[in-house]
Amino acid sequence: MVDTFYNPVTTYFGKGSLCKLKELTENETVTLVTFPEAESLGLIEKIKLLLGDRLVHIIQNVQPNPDVIQLKEIYEYFWEKFEDCDTVLAIGGGSSIDTAKALIVGTESKKFEELLEPLVTGKKFTPTKYKKLIAVPTTAGTGSEVTPWATIWDSKEQKKYSLHLDCTWPKVAIIDPDLMLTVPRAITISTGLDALSHALESIWNVNSNPVSDIFAISAIEDILDCLPKLSQDLLNENLRSKMALAALKAGIAFSNTKTALAHSISYEMTLRYGLAHGIACSFTLPYVLGLAWGKSKSRDQIFKKMFGNSLEDAQTQLLNFLHSLDVKTEFCDYGVYADEQMEMINYAMQGARGKNFIGVSLS
Ligand SMILES: NC(=O)c1ccc[n+]([C@@H]2O[C@H](COP(=O)([O-])OP(=O)(O)OC[C@H]3O[C@@H](n4cnc5c(N)ncnc54)[C@H](O)[C@@H]3O)[C@@H](O)[C@H]2O)c1
Repeated sequence: MVDTFYNPVTTYFGKGSLCKLKELTENETVTLVTFPEAESLGLIEKIKLLLGDRLVHIIQNVQPNPDVIQLKEIYEYFWEKFEDCDTVLAIGGGSSIDTAKALIVGTESKKFEELLEPLVTGKKFTPTKYKKLIAVPTTAGTGSEVTPWATIWDSKEQKKYSLHLDCTWPKVAIIDPDLMLTVPRAITISTGLDALSHALESIWNVNSNPVSDIFAISAIEDILDCLPKLSQDLLNENLRSKMALAALKAGIAFSNTKTALAHSISYEMTLRYGLAHGIACSFTLPYVLGLAWGKSKSRDQIFKKMFGNSLEDAQTQLLNFLHSLDVKTEFCDYGVYADEQMEMINYAMQGARGKNFIGVSLS
């Protein structure tokens, strides 16, 4: 059997790497997509200084979990007024990067509906034009800077879509841990747990391969060690850097496998209960580990190497880790009781990501 690993994103990592932006955008015009606090944190000023008059448009009101209502407004204004702009620069968490991924894909009509419709109907869509995307994460979590997916939410219709085209791979990712020093504790924890979930989900995944395993295992070891320390020492540059690298490794791992059951469950928890993405996709990890254990020899070897030979001890280890970060681990802690819990898990198993889970395909 031949395994394939593919990731086309040119990636720069390290303190101060934001400066790379200058040479990477030479002779280009740039639209910046970022989060509301970027202004008060001095980030927009920093980008203005780096890019000067190359910076032609700034979108700075991206809200958590990009919703079709806001995307439509941002998208149509951009394609109406800045169709000639060369590059979209996303600086922010997954919400800013995913917003930018939707923005770079052109439609003939310049209307957002033309992009949304294939997501709703599942019809094939081949864009005739698109922009270059540079992704600069300011949270250590989603890995969106090295994946081709954009998560698009429709809270009114209670739906979540995944935009995925050849052109939605970022051209360049710049991971500068200094940009993460201002992330508050709760978001540091939830985004860090998102990364842990990516790494575990890429292991208990029907698409896993020996290369993705290497990135995933290393990410898990780093996150288990680093996140509790970082949650108590938010201004520690070494820990921020270690966590940024761990999230990048987890992102590279799941860029080839996609996510699985814990993420599939999370979408319902976010849509129905408004739970932050990182908590929604991680509070079930001990439970999902229980479903994965014993389903595949090669996966079990990895679990045992990381967590020891007993499933019970492995689950306790994960539960203690989550509790140490003040994360509750039962569905009922979030207002979901027995019947709805089972309905939600069964529904998640049937979802596109749920079908990647080894416990589904091998049972
Ligand atoms: N495309 C992918 O591969 C992928 C993977 C995982 C998650 N996602 C999506 O990403 C979104 C979540 O992204 P996220 O967890 O990074 O959070 P986010 O982008 O929604 O940001 C969370 C909050 O942190 C703030 N913030 C961001 N950076 C900051 C900084 N440096 N200092 C202070 N505050 C800062 C933001 O303003 C926001 O209020 C969800 O929509 C999720 O579905 C996408």
